[in-house]
Amino acid sequence: MSSNLISKYNVAGPRYTSYPTVPYWDNKYFSLRSWKESLIRGYKESNSTEGISIYVHLPFCESLCTFCGCNKRITKNHSVEIPYLKSVIKEWEMYCDLLKERPVIKELHLGGGTPTFFSIENLNLLLNGIFRIANKSENAELSFEGHPNNTTKEHLRLLSKFGFQRVSYGVQDYNEKVQKSIHRIQPFENVKKVTKEARDTGFTSVGHDIIFGLPFQTKEHIIYTIERTKELMPDRIAFYSYAHVPWIKGNGQRGYKEEDLPTANEKREQYEIGKKMLLEAGYFEIGMDHFALSTDSLYQAIENRTLHRNFMGYTTSKTRVMIGLGVSAISDSWYGFAQNVKGVEEYQNLIENNISPVYRGHILTTEDLIIRKHILNLMCNFKTTWFTKDDFFEDLPQVIHSLKEMFQDGLIEFDSNFLKITERGKPFVRNVCMAFDRRLQKNKPETQLFSMTV
Ligand SMILES: C[S@@+](CC[C@H](N)C(=O)[O-])C[C@H]1O[C@@H](n2cnc3c(N)ncnc32)[C@H](O)[C@@H]1O
Ligand code: SF4
Repeated sequence: MSSNLISKYNVAGPRYTSYPTVPYWDNKYFSLRSWKESLIRGYKESNSTEGISIYVHLPFCESLCTFCGCNKRITKNHSVEIPYLKSVIKEWEMYCDLLKERPVIKELHLGGGTPTFFSIENLNLLLNGIFRIANKSENAELSFEGHPNNTTKEHLRLLSKFGFQRVSYGVQDYNEKVQKSIHRIQPFENVKKVTKEARDTGFTSVGHDIIFGLPFQTKEHIIYTIERTKELMPDRIAFYSYAHVPWIKGNGQRGYKEEDLPTANEKREQYEIGKKMLLEAGYFEIGMDHFALSTDSLYQAIENRTLHRNFMGYTTSKTRVMIGLGVSAISDSWYGFAQNVKGVEEYQNLIENNISPVYRGHILTTEDLIIRKHILNLMCNFKTTWFTKDDFFEDLPQVIHSLKEMFQDGLIEFDSNFLKITERGKPFVRNVCMAFDRRLQKNKPETQLFSMTV
């Protein structure tokens, strides 16, 4: 890839796990009442046909990884587990009361923080609390994020008993210098052990998260990390670009300097070599920054045209409603978004007093809904179409006009009713989405809100 393209298109941009993106949510038309109404509407339209997704945020970690951009609380004190889980279960009960029937769970994801921070007994408590008042759809997808340093056979057995079949392990990089700089020492042997244990327990999809662009990381480290990854052949690989966002995280992204980070060109080279190695090893590229073997459900979702993207990232089922439980969790009713407060104590206090922990959100306008559809199409399938007036929005001609330079650079192709991102353009999918993002275009941020697109 030419360095000209990189310098031209490497700008700060959203990762589009939602549209509108969180900084552009409009609180003016948002209230708890409008959120609840939008949830009931989305739920009624979809629960009996496609079911709903649940995301549970489990924020605790024993040790801080300094690169981490997630909402987490570092502690070695495990007495935090039960009060937190009781609040999560109560929040779920509050939602079920609102919906007035047993929801059908199509997808459940435990994310964090570190779900495997929690004991077996407490995870059992959480899952019993959730399923006591919900039905599981026949082909439900249950997954969790496991830390290779603390996932045990007992965790895997318990989760498998509840129907979990998919786990993603945080690997990041196998080089010791890189691991030290991000304060995350994690030998290959640990990853090998938990990968094997998950398979032996019956998990059908084991994923590894690898990051490029970390401090002190070089192309050679990426080659080494992927060589080692190939020894285990995980079913899925998330190959993330390191998101450097020190301005929004009080807790982390320190311990290294800006100069320790690879340049944009070096980062792109790391991505290109990593991608080449993964494709040669038999993986298929799925959407942005994901790879999967053809036997994995993520690949099959492309074949079945069910690939979807929401706050959990890429998902295999097109559920329009996602309820997020726990601190900082975001819910999506299809017609609106809502986010919970970020502090553990504040969250628990609100729930204890039967008050919704939602503190901000957005109700989508008709134009938002159309643009969201195009952005989802681009992020999942690298193409979008506008054959009917339902796909059309006022500024569409302007959007296409603004993409002329990308067309001249060979990054996209289009005609009067479709737009396709070329192979060369795939690394710039976020830039194409940004042209569609009318809220961003009409109100460009004065300070940097997003990580760089490359
Ligand atoms: C919540 S963590 C995974 C579970 C567990 N806490 C662990 O660390 O193994 C989810 C993943 O987000 C990714 N991640 C976190 N911060 C990131 C950042 N700043 N840039 C890119 N990816 C990041 C990492 O790959 C990490 O494995
Ligand atoms: S990467 Fe995982 S273990 Fe490390 S701080 Fe972030 S959430 Fe916690």
